[in-house]
This record gives sequence, C-alpha cells and structure tokens, in this order.
Amino acid sequence: MTDHITHDVLIIGTGLAGLRAAISCAMRNEKLSIGVISKVQVMRSHSVSAEGGTAAVLFSDEGDNMESHIYDTIRGSDFLCDQDVAEKLAHEIPKEIYQLDRWGMPWSRRKDGKIDQRKFGGYSFPRATYAQDKVGFYEMQTLYDTCLKYDNINFYNEWFCTSILDDGNNNFAGATAIEMKDGNFNVFKSNSGIIATGGAGRLYSFSTYAYSSTPDGLDMAYRCGLALKDMEFVQFHPTGVLPSGILITEGARGEGGYLINNLGERFMKNYAPEKLELAPRDVVSRSMIKEIEHGRGFKHETGVDCLKLDLTHLGEEQIKEKLAGIREIGIKFSGVDIINEPIEIRPVCHYMMGGIHTNIDGQTEMNGLWSAGEAACNSLHGANRLGANSTSECLLWGNITGRLAADYAHKNKDKSTKIAENLIQLEEKRIFDGIFRGRGQINPYEVRKQFTDMMDVNAYIFRNENDLIEALKKVRELRNSSWKHVNDSAKEYNTNFINVMEIDSLLRVGEIIIGGALNRRESRGAHFRTDYPTRDDVNFLKHTLVYYKGDDDPQYSWHPVTLTRYVPAERKY
Ligand code: FUM
Repeated sequence: MTDHITHDVLIIGTGLAGLRAAISCAMRNEKLSIGVISKVQVMRSHSVSAEGGTAAVLFSDEGDNMESHIYDTIRGSDFLCDQDVAEKLAHEIPKEIYQLDRWGMPWSRRKDGKIDQRKFGGYSFPRATYAQDKVGFYEMQTLYDTCLKYDNINFYNEWFCTSILDDGNNNFAGATAIEMKDGNFNVFKSNSGIIATGGAGRLYSFSTYAYSSTPDGLDMAYRCGLALKDMEFVQFHPTGVLPSGILITEGARGEGGYLINNLGERFMKNYAPEKLELAPRDVVSRSMIKEIEHGRGFKHETGVDCLKLDLTHLGEEQIKEKLAGIREIGIKFSGVDIINEPIEIRPVCHYMMGGIHTNIDGQTEMNGLWSAGEAACNSLHGANRLGANSTSECLLWGNITGRLAADYAHKNKDKSTKIAENLIQLEEKRIFDGIFRGRGQINPYEVRKQFTDMMDVNAYIFRNENDLIEALKKVRELRNSSWKHVNDSAKEYNTNFINVMEIDSLLRVGEIIIGGALNRRESRGAHFRTDYPTRDDVNFLKHTLVYYKGDDDPQYSWHPVTLTRYVPAERKY
C-alpha cells in the first residue's frame, strides 16, 4: 500500500543549498508546511566537507570591488558562464555572509575583529571568507541549527528519492521515495519543489566526494524530462591526497603553499607566471599532469604518479591556526604531518559545473520546480568554477529558490495536486520488479568499480575522441550486462539495494558526460581535448543541453550563453 505525505513545499537534499532554501521558505511564510528529504542524516551531507572558503566582496574600502568578482568569475569560466548570473552572485552574496554571521557562523576574524578573507585561485583579491579550513562544516551546522528553530520544517532523513512526479501538464506534483529504515515506497504530494541533491563526483573512483554523492537527483530530473546542461565540464581539483582522494584545500596554497616537482621546483612558474599556484584549477591541474608526463613527478607507494604540496615553510603556528583540518587529514590518511614534510597529491574529481538546466532564478523547465546548488546548472560557473564560488552559489540560490518556491506554494495553495497515477505505478514497478527483485548474473559492485575506474582514465583531464568512444562503448556494455543483482532481500536498511539504485543513475549520467565531451570538439575550461586543443568561440560558445529519450540515445542540443558586457578574450594567468 502506498502512503501519501503532503507538504506545501518539498525540498530534496539537505546540503547547504537545501538547508538555506528551507530557512528562506520558512521565513517567507511561516504558515507553509515544508518537507525536506535526504538520503543521509543532515550532517552527513557532502557540504560538510567543504574546506576553504565562500567568495564575496567584503572589503570595498580596502581595494576589492564587485566588478572584479564578476570578471574573475567570467574569465575563470572560460567565458561560458552566463554573465548576468555572475553579476547577480557578486552583488548579492555579501548579504549572505553577514546573514550567516548573525545566525552564529564562527567566521575566522582578523586582529581588528572584522571577518577575515584569504587568497584563492583565479581571484584578483583575497576573497574567500573562511572558518579555519572547515567552512562547510560550520556553515552546515549554522544552517541546521537555524532550521531547527522553525516548527514548519519537517525533515525526512535517510529517505531515498526515486522520481519526480508531475500532473501530466508539466506542473510539479511531488516525488516518490523509499524510507530506508523500513524499505517502504512512499508518495510525497506538493505543488512546489526544489531539487538540491548536490554533485555526483562518485562517477569517478579518485574523488573528493562522499560515497553518497551519486547522480540520483540529476537522474530523477533527467528521467522526468528536464534537460541537464554542460555535463561534460567536470572539475579536477589539483590537490587530492593519496591514496584516498580526500581534499587538501586550495586554502593551503592561499596561505602560501607551494606545488613542487621531483627537481624541487615550483613548476607553476612555467605555466602561470603571474598567479603561480593560485591560477584557476583547470590551469593548475593540467600543468600538474604535464609535469608528470615530462617525468618530473613522484611515484606514490601505490604506484600512482603524483606531485607534492609543500607547506613546511608556513610554520607550525600558522598551520595549526588556519589549516588544522588538513593537517589532521594528512596525518590520518597519508601518514604525513604537513608541518614537517611535503604531502603527495594529484588532481582529483571535485565538482560538476553541469547540472539541471535552470534560469537565473533557479527555475527548471517544470512549473513549480526549482533547483539550487551543485545539482543545478544556472550557468554561474561555465566551463570552470573558481574555488569558493560554490558555497556562495549554494547559499545565494538556496535563499532565492526557497523564497520563490514559498511564494508559488502560497499562490497555488488551494489548487489540489493531481498526480498522474500511472507514473506512481510505473515507478513502483521500475524499482521493485526492475531492481529490488533483480537477480542479475554480475556483481554490481564490480560493475561500479569498472565504470568509475574507466572514468578516471578515459574522461579525466586530457580527453580525446578515441578514449571517449571507448568509454561510451564500455558504459553501454556495462548497462546492457546483467548487473541488477540485489543479493540481500531484507527491506530494512538494505544498502545493497540502494547501491544498485545508485549504479543505475551512475551509468545513465556517465553516458551523458561522455557524449557531451565527444560532441564538444574544442578545449574550454576543465574540458580539454588533445585532438582539439584550442577554444573555438565560433562553433562552441554555447551550452550543451541533453534530454532523456527512454531506450533511445540521449538527445543533445545547444543553448545560447548570456553575454552582457564582457567580450570573450584569451585567458592568461
Ligand atoms: O579547496 C577547497 O577548499 C575547495 C573549495 C571549493 O571547491 O570551493
């Protein structure tokens, strides 16, 4: 028997964007009932892992300015960002920093008592607002504490959403979800919704993301007919610690850390003479792989090629005060105390510039449905995001979409929500007959590993047609193999079942990334094609859109970039 749960607004995801949206919604209209669903406990959302900062112009009196934040973001994006979106971010994010401060966020302070900011890659001014090197953790804690003050926010933790429902006329009507505790299938009814399910970096094996960061949210949106945008742009952060891939914050370089090769040289002087280690991530990561290819890397004990991050010259006091979190990560996960010796690192999957296609306000192509944070692609980051602009995006567009969803819910409060009933039945069948009772011949964990290992090689920093075609073949072969095997038949906390559900989304979204990378025959931002090594504004200054076509191949099309005042130019750092 299917239960129905009704809320005025339904938010899917409890990272920074989801929590900020919930607060915004609750503040806007205290009479609305708000449901917030997450497949994890709130404080296990991947946002808690954000380390280095939240970008905002706070010191206009000391030389920073909006124009500079806007242009840094646009240039960092390799001119693929929608320029009106960058303008909106720069103008509106400072208010969010102070709002969090009032809610209790323990921002690091300068000696004069003002909120401190540190340097980050690609910026012309120290603009990353920070709290030691645990920014995401403290922001999440601040937002979660604030959510708990509102009686009209209802959390559904450890509920796995499986599909978005509409009324048959492209109006949002709710979602289906499995409560992991008892394995039951449920229907949420709502006129107004926000998808804030975060990024999907577990498409790669070597990744900074939590194991839960799979593309189920993106896949739900895609399967219900919404476009995904710019999915080929995957960010590889320069400093993932070996062997796990856990993030060593860019804040370490912001505080003065060096990247060194096996000759002991700060090799970035050869690639970005002005910005050195603080060039944007796409530039630094490519330079690192070139150093390795030229034989100037190190071999980690696991056999993996790497370089080193040297922080020893910063001294014990600065490291303990500002980089305590990564010191602990180094000791626990690499056996290295960064106070005493350089640490081995290599570029690691860290962020997806692409996501659910939205407009500047986070509105998706479905009435009553918004998307915010990393799950969304409002085109702020274009082909390459600047560090610290992501937590900014989550906060600002969490706030915006929460407000808009609240207003929409209020306006449509008396409209009865009609869900196309056949959608519910089809979804129940897809999940229980297609997956839960699946008895495939191949170990799904092996399929997941083969797929993500292949992405690490074929869809990494340098790409080419042959590797991408091979990748497409591999992903289709894996999808068509008999892998839907759920060994555990228990309903309660069946992580085996959830894993198979996640793989289903990994393979579908993986195919989209590879297809998008094949179609984009140019190099721009984080997407570098060795067979098309230059940016081609004549043919490719446009966004990629992709739509689901069931058993047929994904359908790709293009979408214009919004240019306001800034003319695309060559990037030099
Ligand atoms: O390096 C970092 O702390 C990451 C920040 C970000 O991705 O914005």
